[in-house]
Amino acid sequence: MRYSDDLIEEVRSRNDIVDVVSGYVKIQKRGGTYFGLCPFHNEKTASFSVTPSKQMYYCFGCGVGGNVFTFLMEYENYTFSEAMQALADRAGIELPKMEETEEQRRAADLRSKLLEINRLAGYYFFRQMNTNRGKKALEYFLGRGLSLDTIKHFGLGYSDSQRDDLYRYLKGKGFDDEILKETGLVKVKENDAYDMFFNRAMFPIMDSNNKIIGFGGRVMGEGEPKYLNSPETKLFDKSRNLYGLNYARTTRKPYFLICEGYMDVISLHQAGFTNAVAPLGTAFTPGQANLIKRYVKQVILTFDSDGAGVKAARRAIPIFKEAGISVKVLSLKPYKDPDEFIKNMGPEAFQERIDQAENSFMFEIDVLSREYDMSDPEQQTAFWHMVTEKLAGFTDEIERNSYLEAVSRRYTMDTGTLKRRVNAVGARSGAAAQEDPVSYQKKKQKDKVDGLKKSERLMLTWLTSDETLYPKLSRWISEDDFPDEPYHEAAKMVFADLKAGKKPEPARILNYFIEQEDAYREVAVLFNTTIDEQLSDDERTKAITETVKRLKRNSLDLQSRNATDLTRLQEIFRAQKELDGLRLEL
Ligand code: GTP
Ligand code: MN
Repeated sequence: MRYSDDLIEEVRSRNDIVDVVSGYVKIQKRGGTYFGLCPFHNEKTASFSVTPSKQMYYCFGCGVGGNVFTFLMEYENYTFSEAMQALADRAGIELPKMEETEEQRRAADLRSKLLEINRLAGYYFFRQMNTNRGKKALEYFLGRGLSLDTIKHFGLGYSDSQRDDLYRYLKGKGFDDEILKETGLVKVKENDAYDMFFNRAMFPIMDSNNKIIGFGGRVMGEGEPKYLNSPETKLFDKSRNLYGLNYARTTRKPYFLICEGYMDVISLHQAGFTNAVAPLGTAFTPGQANLIKRYVKQVILTFDSDGAGVKAARRAIPIFKEAGISVKVLSLKPYKDPDEFIKNMGPEAFQERIDQAENSFMFEIDVLSREYDMSDPEQQTAFWHMVTEKLAGFTDEIERNSYLEAVSRRYTMDTGTLKRRVNAVGARSGAAAQEDPVSYQKKKQKDKVDGLKKSERLMLTWLTSDETLYPKLSRWISEDDFPDEPYHEAAKMVFADLKAGKKPEPARILNYFIEQEDAYREVAVLFNTTIDEQLSDDERTKAITETVKRLKRNSLDLQSRNATDLTRLQEIFRAQKELDGLRLEL
């Protein structure tokens, strides 16, 4: 079931954007607009704007923008229906109950019971550290340099060495075997039941809403397996959750630190690097990469510097790239893992390593170089062949050249020679060597399209912020002069309002794009485009005239290309002529 457009609009219009955003970001009024530091990227000057008349926010620094719904979706990482629910609650609007099938109700019921059991178990493990037998776990954590605050923050605990104490505790809370079986915390057999975790230091695993969905347990001292993790349950999907994500998601840094284990995450958080996350006792999965992508577009791998860590990094890099996340690799040398590094070198040194982290390309070349014997000319040639192919894969010239220089410096090769080889490969494979005439033509074409799109954006911003403009321009332009999607769809709504004599409401128009992530971002920009300089009235008239001409010329061009009969062509020519002499009085 989907909410009706009217209900969506009612919820939106009853939540003033200034009020909602003020709950999260400090904003100050300047003229008709509020400004503050952008919560979606790091900045020192306030380029994040909230405009009451449009009921929109927009950041002139990073280009994010939207209405109250998208604000909560981006800030809280809510889905659209979660944002809808939260804003309806805020405005005291009752939403119709979503129809639930019997099966859905039972599944929701089971989920909430399992969550409750996990919560109780987590608390039980935590309190065990106060018992005589359990205090060794507390000592273990403290001995590893964790503070009491950190231990509490992560809800660490101890599973007793009695074989069924947790089972009996949960039974005592009134849960039957049937449901306890589903938790992965106990094994229930015909005439026997016992705990899964047994004399282990316990790490509760939380989902992004801070609910415990599973546990990891480390053996006390030596033993196999070193870490035991909850099995997959109705709650616990290892390939779609990450350790530490519940905290990392709110840090607002543009990247996550990816480490291998629970202890690494915890010691990084304790040292102030609260954007660290780790997988859950398995290798990195595409599901986890996609989860991360909801929060950041870049990761820095801080995997162990041993062979296993390098292997894990090599496996993870393509998974991140595939998801569209850029990857850097941090060197921990001479230490084994982040935990050890921080203990020995401290947080400042770790921050330096973050700043020095290299694009995963250099890491891959490094690994590659170790596979070839560079003293053997034949192998050296093979190595450079691989490097050349990889460099030719960069489509951005600046990026390609900077890696080209870095590689030739590190492995001593003449830059000019390497460049010629890379260009040769690039030309052969049709990749983007700049001298290539095809790519030059493509670039010119792209610049033209970008210019047109900018004109479309400017025009929609003007039309929606100054409603006196439309009557003066209506003879010249219409929604059909905005050929690109989603611009065309948005323009249709703007012109419909203007024709009806209504002031267009950008925030309402945005409702229609909210569930297409790429589209709503583009549409948000449509209503918030500015030209860089401050314009006098005269200059503004000129700019608007030029923009009208540009849009109209383009759409007449398109029409003439598609026109089949002569009279239509003549009309188009006449319109083109008329356009040349256009002088607007605004
Ligand atoms: P400490 O010895 O406690 O410092 O552990 P560590 O943080 O150095 O962990 P290690 O590098 O050995 O392992 C990293 C991560 O891999 C752990 O956090 C676990 O999630 C996982 N892991 C390690 N050992 C096992 C195991 O035996 N089984 C499973 N399933 N996962 C493991
Ligand atoms: Mn370790």
